[in-house]
Amino acid sequence: MRESTNQSIKPVTTKVNEKGNLEIGGCDLVELAEKYGTPLYVLDEVTIRSICKDYKDAFSSYPKINMMYASKALCTLATSAILSKEGFGFDVVSAGEIYTVYKSGAPMEKVLFNGNNKSFDELNLALDLGVGRFSVDNFLELSLLNEIAKSKNKTADILLRITPGIECHTHEYIQTGHLDSKFGFDLTQIDEAVDLILNEYTNLKLHGLHAHIGSQIFETKVYHDEIEILVKELARLDEKFSLKLDEINIGGGLGVKYTEKDLPPSTFEIADVIIKSLNASIEKYKIDPPTLFIEPGRSIISTAGVTLYTIGSSKQVPKGKKYIAVDGGMADNPRPSMYRAEYFAQIANKPETAAAEDVTIAGRYCESGDVLIDNIKLPLIEEGDILCVFNTGAYNYSMASNYNRVQKPQMVLVNNSQSDIIVMRETLEDLISHDVVPDRLKY
Ligand code: LLP
Repeated sequence: MRESTNQSIKPVTTKVNEKGNLEIGGCDLVELAEKYGTPLYVLDEVTIRSICKDYKDAFSSYPKINMMYASKALCTLATSAILSKEGFGFDVVSAGEIYTVYKSGAPMEKVLFNGNNKSFDELNLALDLGVGRFSVDNFLELSLLNEIAKSKNKTADILLRITPGIECHTHEYIQTGHLDSKFGFDLTQIDEAVDLILNEYTNLKLHGLHAHIGSQIFETKVYHDEIEILVKELARLDEKFSLKLDEINIGGGLGVKYTEKDLPPSTFEIADVIIKSLNASIEKYKIDPPTLFIEPGRSIISTAGVTLYTIGSSKQVPKGKKYIAVDGGMADNPRPSMYRAEYFAQIANKPETAAAEDVTIAGRYCESGDVLIDNIKLPLIEEGDILCVFNTGAYNYSMASNYNRVQKPQMVLVNNSQSDIIVMRETLEDLISHDVVPDRLKY
């Protein structure tokens, strides 16, 4: 079957240029590091558009499809504009994500609001800005959303988020569809929720069901099981409540290739399983073909991103590891310390030099656990070399912090030998701009 972009460790435009340096989107990474400083997030536009095309091609045989990009993976004005122009809608989970997508100019009717504890203010904003779907997660939200919609004389279009009880083999913290999960209605609670919607919450219009089973998924069968459960529920609700629901949202989750040992399926493989399972379930449970929503995040944006760091100090532990320190770490990429996530890296100014030593890439933050890559073979490294860590487009900037009061890096978008800043580096003034000193403490 055709390969897709999420199966590559590096952005699709990566090459070694005539200077012997790594190049992405026609831009020399060493020159980018000099021009913009490090740490630097670099995002390749061609790679983003290439995976979008993979998704569109892969699902083209099921025309009733709504592709939503899960903004939590990376949410900026520029990336939202690219994805919107590629025809994607957005899964959002906060006022911040709603506002960013709105300000990017994307059509709000293609936005779906997820989350297990949406606040009054967030629901209010979402209704005001015309968010197209709410995936309602719990009983409190049903009543709150109904109340707010009523006060505005509006109807909120909703899906019910359910917990299908599927365990997928990924890190425990990024599994979400198993029964003991904080997300969604348990299968045994669906009828009560539907009953309330039909009989009490008259400002809510239920369109279908939503589930999300986890992230960085490599197995395809879990999607088959998930679809079977969702379609079965649609048929059961029709029988019990004479309710024709015509939407199912199967969430995101497709994995990416961080290192050689990761073997994620292609968009074509999962689309094949998803469409076949859907058609089989439609036939089995005798329902009309529903509109299918998918909401991938990581697989859309991860491969497009790399992070550049400058190598600083090093330490050879006698009879132990060799630590090489970079000028970033757990605040710009918390994934290794949170999930023991593994990454691949190369030296941007000598990508073709043979590997000479095993080193551990340490971050600059004041924690022993701040290690970006534990044990990687690299050429002999010198201070000032530029390290390029691959596959950092997803859940890096979006999970970044100001730990140790360090400014977040900036992000540049590269394409056609051109680089544009899409997120500016924070300044020292930015860091203190929200601090307030009470009068009695002033000098
Ligand atoms: N839809 C829902 C309802 C979700 O909760 C998520 C991710 C997605 C879609 C997108 O999933 P993706 O296609 O990106 O796998 N911070 C973790 C990942 C957390 C994912 C949370 N939910 C990490 O860095 O691995």
